[in-house]
Amino acid sequence: MTLKGHAMTTKADTLANRKRLLGRNLSIAYKYPIKIVRGSMQYLYDEEGVEYLDAYNNVAHVGHCNPRVVKAGYEQMARLNTNTRYLHDLINQFAERLTATLPDPLKVCFFVNSGSEANELALRLACTHTHATDLIVLDHAYHGNTNTLIDISPYKHNGPGGGGPPTWVHKLPLPDPFRGGQDAEAAIVNRVIQELRERKTPLAGFIAESMPSVGGQIVLPPGYLNKVYDAVREAGGVCIADEVQTGYGRIGTHFWAFESYGVVPDIVVLGKPIGNGHPIGAVVTTREIANSFDNGMEFFSTFGGNPVSCAIGLAVLDEVFKNDLQNHALVVGQSLLARLSELKASYEIMGDVRGSGLFLGVELVRNRTTLEPATAEADFIVNAMRDRQILFGTDGPFHNVLKIRPPMPFTKTDADRLCETLARVVSEV
Ligand SMILES: Cc1ncc(COP(=O)(O)O)c(C=O)c1O
Repeated sequence: MTLKGHAMTTKADTLANRKRLLGRNLSIAYKYPIKIVRGSMQYLYDEEGVEYLDAYNNVAHVGHCNPRVVKAGYEQMARLNTNTRYLHDLINQFAERLTATLPDPLKVCFFVNSGSEANELALRLACTHTHATDLIVLDHAYHGNTNTLIDISPYKHNGPGGGGPPTWVHKLPLPDPFRGGQDAEAAIVNRVIQELRERKTPLAGFIAESMPSVGGQIVLPPGYLNKVYDAVREAGGVCIADEVQTGYGRIGTHFWAFESYGVVPDIVVLGKPIGNGHPIGAVVTTREIANSFDNGMEFFSTFGGNPVSCAIGLAVLDEVFKNDLQNHALVVGQSLLARLSELKASYEIMGDVRGSGLFLGVELVRNRTTLEPATAEADFIVNAMRDRQILFGTDGPFHNVLKIRPPMPFTKTDADRLCETLARVVSEV
């Protein structure tokens, strides 16, 4: 198949041009890269029309090129797009619909254009409110690509090219139930806070993904987040939930992942799925914190909260609710988790199968006693799945966790196909 705008350039030329024109550390997935030219719901199509089942692009939450979302964006783009210094109803409507999904007192919205921008803003809110700068983070976390966010992202600053954390960042071990992370680890936060007290250093807060995704699709141990939130608040800090990957019903049981632990953060950070591929980021916080931030300095984002973004954001919410996608994620996710667990019983390498709804992970190990990570094997599996037209990625500190986070329209039939193919591929390892 040829597509307008893509027909003239071969895949080899696209690759060569990219290497010539773009920074080399912009990584490319798969040993044999794919040139994707079209998307439709949970499927992607390459330049020859080959269809791929997308099992990990959580950004296209309600499906690639979802017609309702495309129509909403197109119609608003044809009508008006401008900035937030004019009155417009769509930004209010989007804020109203968004805050209706969140518990009290999370009722004040700020709109930006990416998860990174949203996390940056969340840090500004926390620091302004508390008059402090020190922050507690989880090991292996990733929160975005700016200077400050690399500073609070051990996944980046502890890796190649990273310079480690700055002195104002304090790291808690990732409480990974599979690798022995017990809820006793929550006590470590008290040690960190005590050290800060001894140094007379005030605490701005704590930031974590409510289910660490980059950390390896982890569901935190029961009670963990509750204890950490309590300790941080007691020390004067605020609690920031990065829901960039986990929000909007993906975990099936709840709309937001933090709700599954019975905690309420002070600041929630949103990104990826809320625009379904259109760049939208948002921060939702309490009136009290928003008032502290209203300290005389104007807040402005040229594109944040523009009418096109808000029309798209509303259409995404419509799709989520009209199609009951949270419940769909629960039902399909439970079936997928059950089938993956059956495979785990047959294949030693599948050390752990975990997650909730359509936020799942399969941790691959060479030995179930030593838990030696099967990193090369994970790479083999991801590439072998790609060769069979199913797209996966890996995550986790050892890059040995298969991440399964498909667009939400992913069906039970897709899940069955994924498991049958995975069983064949795993038996080849
Ligand atoms: C948990 C989390 N937070 C924040 C971000 C940053 O979002 P963006 O890439 O849209 O700036 C990411 C991106 O991968 C993420 O996974």
